[in-house]
Amino acid sequence: MGPGPRRPDPHSVRGVRVGPAHRQPRGPRPAGVRRAADPARAVPAARHRRTVLDCVAEGDREETVSAILRVQDLSQRFGGLHALKDVSFDIIDGEILGIIGPNGAGKSTLFNAIVGVVPPISGHVWFKDEDLVGVPPHEVMAKGVAKTSQSVQVFDEMSVLDNVAVAALLKNDSIKSAREAARGELEFWGLQSFADVIAQDLTLAQRSTLELARAMMLHPAVLLVDEVMAGLNEVEVDQMLDRMMQANRERGVTLIVIEHNMRALMRISHRILALDYGAVIALGEPAEVSKNQRVVDAYLGVE
Ligand SMILES: Nc1ncnc2c1ncn2[C@@H]1O[C@H](COP(=O)(O)OP(=O)(O)OP(=O)(O)O)[C@@H](O)[C@H]1O
Ligand SMILES: [Mg+2]
Repeated sequence: MGPGPRRPDPHSVRGVRVGPAHRQPRGPRPAGVRRAADPARAVPAARHRRTVLDCVAEGDREETVSAILRVQDLSQRFGGLHALKDVSFDIIDGEILGIIGPNGAGKSTLFNAIVGVVPPISGHVWFKDEDLVGVPPHEVMAKGVAKTSQSVQVFDEMSVLDNVAVAALLKNDSIKSAREAARGELEFWGLQSFADVIAQDLTLAQRSTLELARAMMLHPAVLLVDEVMAGLNEVEVDQMLDRMMQANRERGVTLIVIEHNMRALMRISHRILALDYGAVIALGEPAEVSKNQRVVDAYLGVE
């Protein structure tokens, strides 16, 4: 394997400027993320999403776009284990960011720190100019940042419909309206014909999809997806990817997706971030990151 391309600056968002819509509230701005010099250059809202994706895809355009979530110097320790080491990166509104890394690299720990399930020992998670660190998980969720768990967590004894309706109750006043909303969500994910099935009778792929449906029922602005495709066959993976991309495109949800299935991640991600031993070792376009020598070495176990 030849040497990979120059390692991208893990803090930079290539070709993308952080616009006036996102003010840096405190602390130093991560290196490489520049503020638009002229606010008049800000991209009008109507053109915003397309421009964001164009920027990420082309990598060399200078446009004014917003970071919807900014992770800054996030660290986590479990006893003597330094599970996250000053992790910093931005996620652009409307982006799909893939996260890779060997087992134990700190991927799930990063998600738990972002949503407050296991708060970090230091660092910040800026969401709409508010630091989420210290905010309880249910409030983080209410603010618009939701997470699926690595092990599918559905209520086995309940029907598929009620599994989703429970989540819908957070946004609906009555059980009737929650069930109606849940039916719509099931339809989006292709589970409508399983509405009355008890969740424990679903296949793994259906259960994983149900987990996504429950999370999307909360109408998150940012959804963190932790290995929902584990154990699925290629056809099931492709179906899930199609629906996730549709949710991103049509419902505007920004996605951060942890996945070991590199083919899946290459297909869905605008950019990929690689973690190893709790530190960011690469961040950039999928093709670039997959060839990055540090990433290749991390997966082969080279010290
Ligand atoms: N609550 C905890 N207490 C102690 N150690 C933990 C805790 N959570 C995670 N760890 C440790 O932190 C490290 C990172 O774990 P994490 O689950 O984030 O890895 P991962 O990248 O998600 O791995 P995988 O791909 O296997 O899911 C591991 O060494 C793990 O054992
Ligand atoms: Mg994990």
